[in-house]
Amino acid sequence: MKKLVIGNLKMNILSPDERDRYLAWLKKELAGKKNNDSEIILCPPFVHMEAFKKWNNKKIHLGAQNMFSETKGSYTGEISPVMLKNLGCEYVILGHSERRRYFGESNGSINLKIASALKNGLKPILCVGETREEKENERTLGVITNQVKEALLGVKRAKAEQIILAYEPVWAIGGEKVPTANEIMEAKLLIRKILVDLFGKKYADLVPIIYGGNVNIKTVAGVCVDSGMDGVLIGRESLQPHEFVKIADIINNSCKF
Ligand code: 13P
Repeated sequence: MKKLVIGNLKMNILSPDERDRYLAWLKKELAGKKNNDSEIILCPPFVHMEAFKKWNNKKIHLGAQNMFSETKGSYTGEISPVMLKNLGCEYVILGHSERRRYFGESNGSINLKIASALKNGLKPILCVGETREEKENERTLGVITNQVKEALLGVKRAKAEQIILAYEPVWAIGGEKVPTANEIMEAKLLIRKILVDLFGKKYADLVPIIYGGNVNIKTVAGVCVDSGMDGVLIGRESLQPHEFVKIADIINNSCKF
């Protein structure tokens, strides 16, 4: 299994000029790099998806930050999985804590999106994780259990290898702190156990489990390498191509199986 280095650009890059500068900078940073042991995925805002695709760097795969569960019709303002697929997008982040928090997404609505993504040939990157309050009340494991079980309800085991699980503690996102390697390993073990319950061991083992929340060149060894994660989901540092590519390098060089 290749390690995954996923950049979530969130609601940034505000103009075509800024996008072109970003892509030119990224191209420079990627020049001459070999990332044989990892796969880089970038998730730009929808409006830049086509330009990212046309830029067509073979080292980069594309993901979306969200989608709707329906494929077509009167759903003002929504984006169809078929639209994404037709633009060359391969992945889609679903259930990000910012969507849960600001847009009221529930495990139930995320479950519909997961089913639709899989049906329409997109690989869902399912985000789960506890808030600070839930952590303080020692509810972390219960919260993660519900999020994974409810979001994956009804998913067939044959589809398991299309799914990526991202453990993103909400309190670490955009912050200064990260969980200890032990805390991350504990979350990973729990997620793996739930996946085994849902799909059986053979299929559960095909699901990469990655970490997200304040990943940077200083934290990446602890949150990915030491804790045995299958990759990272990066927010802020993905907006800085030199930092993003350095993180990818660290993962590529040190996360050998
Ligand atoms: P930061 O890397 O900025 O903490 O964001 C993480 C995140 O939300 C990725 O989806």
